[in-house]
Amino acid sequence: MMDMKHSTIRIDKFLADMGIGTRSEVKNYLKKGLITLNQAPVKDPSQKVSPDTDIVCFRGEHVRYTAYEYIMLHKPAGVLSATEDRKQKTVLDLITDACVKDLFPVGRLDKDTEGLLLITNDGSLAHRLLSPNKHIAKTYYAKIDGIVTNEDILLFQSGILLEQGFTTLPAILSVLSTDSLTGTSEIEVTIYEGKFHQVKRMFEAAGKKVIYLKRLSMGTLLLDPALQPGEYRHLTDSELDDLL
Ligand code: URA
Repeated sequence: MMDMKHSTIRIDKFLADMGIGTRSEVKNYLKKGLITLNQAPVKDPSQKVSPDTDIVCFRGEHVRYTAYEYIMLHKPAGVLSATEDRKQKTVLDLITDACVKDLFPVGRLDKDTEGLLLITNDGSLAHRLLSPNKHIAKTYYAKIDGIVTNEDILLFQSGILLEQGFTTLPAILSVLSTDSLTGTSEIEVTIYEGKFHQVKRMFEAAGKKVIYLKRLSMGTLLLDPALQPGEYRHLTDSELDDLL
């Protein structure tokens, strides 16, 4: 994992930042002797600690300091990829036990799109993953109203003019199944940009309509099949190593 060095901070801030309680709750815990620093009880809220080398425990449990948090969410349909909204539920409303403040979703999925969404407070990672010239691969599963053909595969491969001055990079389209009775197809598509409604617009250009869309991967990060829509978990160290 990336080696991050932190400067020393007050123990009450350390514990509040890690979600142990508010600053005043933490002061109470200190007073009650529930906090130890390198195995010795500590009562002074202004005590400085080094997050990298000191061992801070609350009720005997080691509290690790993380400046950054990385969460894999299986976004359900019906929630907005935004940090807050006055009327509608956002993806951040689904994250109920975050340790850090200032989380945001890395990029956007449409309200009706499901699947992998990375939620973090690490702006520089987000910047790298979203940067248009990094061409990070994103793979989607979709159900299509229409029979997807070899011509469509070639069209996606050759790039599609989506708007004045913007032609998509070659995208890899593969057909999983077609159903001639219902006139629908199941496909996977990998794109290397993230324009607004990109997958839907690419199929529109092919005269077809996306009726269900789910993101399966972003760069090296794969949606954990154990996560149901609405569920989330922290990234593992190896997922994070690969992303960073
Ligand atoms: N392409 C779309 O059309 N919508 C999404 O949510 C993601 C990619």
